[in-house]
Amino acid sequence: MNLPDMSKAKMRNKESVEFIYTNPLVTNEFSGQKYFIKTYGCQMNVHDSEEISGLLENLGFESVDHENDADLIILNTCAIRENAHDKVFGFLGRCKHLKKDNKNLKLILCGCMAQERSVVDEIIKKHPYIDLVFGTHNIHELPNYLMNLDSGLNIEVKSNEGNVFEVGETFKRDSRYVAWVNIMYGCDKFCTYCIVPFTRGKERSRRSKDILREVACLKEKGYKEVTLLGQNVNAYGRDLEDDMDFAGLLASVAATGIERVRFVTSHPWNFTDEMIEVIAKEDNIMPYIHLPLQSGSDRILKLMGRRYTKDEYLELYNKIKSRVKNAAITTDIIVGFPNETEEDFLETLDVVQKCQYDGAFTFIYSPREGTPAAKMDDSIPLNVKEERLHRLNEIVNKYSNMNNQKYLGTTQKVLLVGISEKDSNKLYGYTETMKLVNVKCDHDLMGTIADVVITEAKSFSLDGEVR
Ligand code: 5AD
Ligand code: SF4
Repeated sequence: MNLPDMSKAKMRNKESVEFIYTNPLVTNEFSGQKYFIKTYGCQMNVHDSEEISGLLENLGFESVDHENDADLIILNTCAIRENAHDKVFGFLGRCKHLKKDNKNLKLILCGCMAQERSVVDEIIKKHPYIDLVFGTHNIHELPNYLMNLDSGLNIEVKSNEGNVFEVGETFKRDSRYVAWVNIMYGCDKFCTYCIVPFTRGKERSRRSKDILREVACLKEKGYKEVTLLGQNVNAYGRDLEDDMDFAGLLASVAATGIERVRFVTSHPWNFTDEMIEVIAKEDNIMPYIHLPLQSGSDRILKLMGRRYTKDEYLELYNKIKSRVKNAAITTDIIVGFPNETEEDFLETLDVVQKCQYDGAFTFIYSPREGTPAAKMDDSIPLNVKEERLHRLNEIVNKYSNMNNQKYLGTTQKVLLVGISEKDSNKLYGYTETMKLVNVKCDHDLMGTIADVVITEAKSFSLDGEVR
């Protein structure tokens, strides 16, 4: 095991990244065996699970929908907040019982929690029945680990930050129409509350030629939409010599002619005018931007290490709104950062009132061991934080509903991607602005972009018809 020392992570050297092109193992070694994968957390984890599933199916494994039917259970974990951690250990308890009934069942824990020293120590002490723990830096080595698994607990966690592994199109993608495409890994921002720079390592960009090849290949296979993925996509290319920046990459991805291009997540710091111009100019770059605010108070933003002020954020927000026609903007907000006062919180509400977001993911601050904020004293009781979250959510929901009402009676281009869960006569899909729409239409329209008339607007979704 080779975990980074969290206290030293900020001093990482900037030596150049090595690109390693690998051919994943293909064999029938595990033919007939079943796997179940449970994914927690962000889109990055969802996409990592697509890679893990692809690697397993190359070995002969078949997927099942329930853990009870599996010979191999994988928990792809998230470390961003304490409740993600609690859910994983709750699920592990159930898996332990399954192991009592099926001695051959193998249990694997991977993802961000595996990169935390304290979690690995907890596993060694309390959960030695797990067969394998591997981290976020060595997913591509999973076939090798499975072929050579020793009895007992195997720990394969690395702080292998110097490499970008290109594994080719080994992903078992969840959708045939929309695809995630990693453009970079890791994060160098070190927001003081955030564990990601420790669990995902330093910023490493993929080469643009590899990204563009992947997008072209997806287009060829009939994919209609790609979402470019990174913890902080604006930083794309800064670690590469002689390659594009994010504005250049966006323009090049748009030039492949794929019908829809999206990206997450962009930090408000370093969101360049060039980026805004490319988004405004290219019709196939969708007018939807997730722009995390975190707090509206300059004092808290400084303590969070966010590198912008309330006014700078609002200026950027207004620039995007005025340049990108009909842009929808969503955000992330944390309430209850250590010693957040009522005045600080009111500054956050003020930004929400000014921006009238299309939607917001709101969280109560959760201390993460090893981060600078976790060492700060905090005098704000939990009930005050909960009450602030409640007040914030009321306003956020009001604006999300208000924005949705504007769609009533309009015709929207909706990419139809699945059968509606509530009503199997309907398909669901997304507008260009990322609004979820349930659509009464012929199922033959699946995978197409349809003109949909919006017949009803609710707080979190729209209903529509193809006429
Ligand atoms: N506590 C609460 N929320 C957090 N986030 C990141 N770290 C924490 C934390 N320690 C939130 C931020 C981020 C989103 C993905 O999760 O709002 O943008
Ligand atoms: Fe975490 Fe900040 Fe990096 Fe986002 S930009 S992943 S919040 S450190």
